[in-house]
Amino acid sequence: MKISVIGAGNVGATAANVLALKNFAEEVVLLDIKEGVAEGKALDMMQTAKLLHLDTRVVGVTNDYSKTANSDIIAITSGMPRKPGMSRADLVGVNSKIVQSVMDAALEYSPEAIFLIISNPVDTLTYLALKNSKLPRHRVIGMSGLLDGSRFEYYLADAIGCPISDIDAMVIGAHGDLMVPLTRFASYKGIPVTEYLSPEKLQEIEHATQVGGGTITKLLGTSAWYAPGAVTATMAEAIAKNTHKTLSCIALLDGEYGEKDVCAGVPVVLGRNGIEKIVELPLNEREKDLFNKSVNSAKETNAKLKNL
Ligand code: 2OP
Repeated sequence: MKISVIGAGNVGATAANVLALKNFAEEVVLLDIKEGVAEGKALDMMQTAKLLHLDTRVVGVTNDYSKTANSDIIAITSGMPRKPGMSRADLVGVNSKIVQSVMDAALEYSPEAIFLIISNPVDTLTYLALKNSKLPRHRVIGMSGLLDGSRFEYYLADAIGCPISDIDAMVIGAHGDLMVPLTRFASYKGIPVTEYLSPEKLQEIEHATQVGGGTITKLLGTSAWYAPGAVTATMAEAIAKNTHKTLSCIALLDGEYGEKDVCAGVPVVLGRNGIEKIVELPLNEREKDLFNKSVNSAKETNAKLKNL
């Protein structure tokens, strides 16, 4: 199993490091355009191999896509992160060009790879990557729902006062302030969280989840990286190990949830060929309305691609 991570910034380097710690891939190639960055971070990771009993080989390269050749999975993290006060959509101009060129370069050496799009605005850049590459929709997957879901689970566990592992919760929709935390389906040891938390508290948690990325950006002056990096590695693992796990990821919708020709976060079954199935949840009218509103925000950002 060979996995390449394009972009050795905070998110990309974290993804490569978590992949190494998960220790299932033979090789992880970390590539950056900045001289020495990927090499230095890969070398530093490899010098933990003895300590952490790692077999995975992490290799860093500067802008040499031939070293990513024949990757099974390629994660694209390249691009600018948000600054405080910016929306993810504000990045569409600069990051669409970067993702387009990176995708072209990577695809040339790995025509069979499954692509994970991490860069923001991720719903739109997943859509761009699919349209430009003309790859089948099961092979280009955006990272967001699992990240938003992890934040949702954190806030729910914190409020209930239980281990996060006892909480199951999912977020769908576009990766923005209109994302849809599915509170009705969230559970603590199989029991609806509505049995433990008031409607007011749940509303507060839903909002905290929706602005979860912005909260960290305000604190750090740049976007989060530990959780996005770990989610990227988790998606790659589900694919590599052919687990058939259902994870919330960005997929191109072709009629599912009443939406067509747009990418947004939905539950998907992940296996060795990428998306095996899009799971259609039994949403009620309110949830459907919130989901479609969220998807419309992705369509608005997609429309900006035409003017670039
Ligand atoms: C986040 O929500 C970077 O969009 C990512 O942290």
